[in-house]
Order: sequence, then C-alpha cells, then structure tokens
Amino acid sequence: MTPKDGSPGVKKQAPDDLKREAGYYAAEMVEDGMVIGLGTGSTVAFAIDRMAERVREGLRVRGVPTSFQAEIRARNRGIPLATLNDYPELDLAIDGADQVDESLRLIKGRGAALTREKCVAAAAGELVIVVDESKVIPVLDGPVPVEVLPFALRPVILGIQALGGDAILRMGIRKDGPVVTDNGNFVLDCSFGTIADPERLEGLLSLMPGVLSCGLFCAFADKTTVVVGKGDGCRELTR
Ligand code: A5P
Repeated sequence: MTPKDGSPGVKKQAPDDLKREAGYYAAEMVEDGMVIGLGTGSTVAFAIDRMAERVREGLRVRGVPTSFQAEIRARNRGIPLATLNDYPELDLAIDGADQVDESLRLIKGRGAALTREKCVAAAAGELVIVVDESKVIPVLDGPVPVEVLPFALRPVILGIQALGGDAILRMGIRKDGPVVTDNGNFVLDCSFGTIADPERLEGLLSLMPGVLSCGLFCAFADKTTVVVGKGDGCRELTR
C-alpha cells in the first residue's frame, strides 16, 4: 500500500474580522497571574495579539505555546513563555478548531499542531475554543488529522483503511514532500464521512501503534467554552 498524497478538502477561510472578534473576546477571559496554553492557528493568533497588548498594559501571565508558530508569535509580542514541564497544570488554554459539534466535540489539526494541542488541552483547567460560525455543525464530518511516526506510516494507513477511512499524506506548501510536524512526524488527513461515534473513533485511532495522536478532541467538552465570532459580537457555547 503506497501512501496517497494531496491536500484534504481545504475549506474557504473565514474573514479575519470574525476570527479577530473571537480571538479578542477570548483574550479578555485571561486573568492576572494565570498560566495560559497558547493554541495554534489563524484565529488564536488574534487572542495572542490581544493578550500581548494586555501584557504591555500590566497583565502578568505566562504562556505555554503549542507550536513554533505560537511560540514565535508570543515571544515577538512580549508574552513571557514557559513549558508544560514548568507548568504541568495550566489555568486556561485558548485554541482554535476546524469543526465543533453540538456536544462540543472537536476536530483539530489543520495546522499540524494537534499532539501538543491535545497535551495542553488535557493540562488546562478550562479550554476556550475560538471559531467562527461556519465551524459549528451538528455532526463532525471533516477529515481527521492523524500525526504518525514516519517509521509506521504504511501500517497506520492500512489500519485506518481497516476502519473504513481514506488516509491522505499531507504535503508541504513551499516545501517538497510531506509536511513534517514540530515533533518530526507526518500527518495523515483521514476521511470517514459522517462520524457517528467520535469517542470510539478517537479511541481506535489513538491506540494504533505509530499514531502520536489524532485530531478528534472528545474528552474535554465538560471544561470547554466555545467562543463563536458572528460579526456582530460573540456567543459562548458550553455544556
Ligand atoms: C492547529 O493544528 C489547529 O488545530 C488549529 O487550531 C485549527 O486548525 C484552527 O485553525 P484556524 O483558526 O486557523 O482555522
């Protein structure tokens, strides 16, 4: 079995003003003295920007970045940084998502940062997810990113096919060959159609030898607040 390559169905990006609205709103949820998980992506980038403004105004926080992207953005803007090993328990994490369902289960990983994002989400007392309205849907049906050890690429593809999925090796843009994650691994974008039982699929994918993590985030709904940018303000979703 040879890996298929290509790009997953890339959805049109939401306008920046919706992302900014959600990101800025989430940044106001940060309180003095907190240690904050800093997610990855174009929406949470606005939260980092606004948090940095608040730091310049006197807010004292530490940020634990989930990727080189988040680390560089936060450091350049003056947010003091730390690691998960410094702070294994975080007050709050702010992150984006690709899809959110009615039970606040998520698909994440368009930016290939899913493994560190899942570690940070698990460590956080509260998880704030910033999205625009287009990402909130009744049932998850998008491609599920899976971070895989290159050593086990083909066995994992076969395993995903055995679950009824179609795995596409994510390719670089302005880089020949596959995307290599911040952890040195590959990403498979795995289509399953409508995902009837996301918890079960997350469990099965996560148990495959060679899989670092998958982009289904089902275990955090009870501590999740989804901030949805609508263009005329934000609405909050909680369980
Ligand atoms: C990063 O790996 C992802 O999980 C992102 O958080 C997610 O794809 C949302 O990104 P955008 O805010 O750029 O849509």
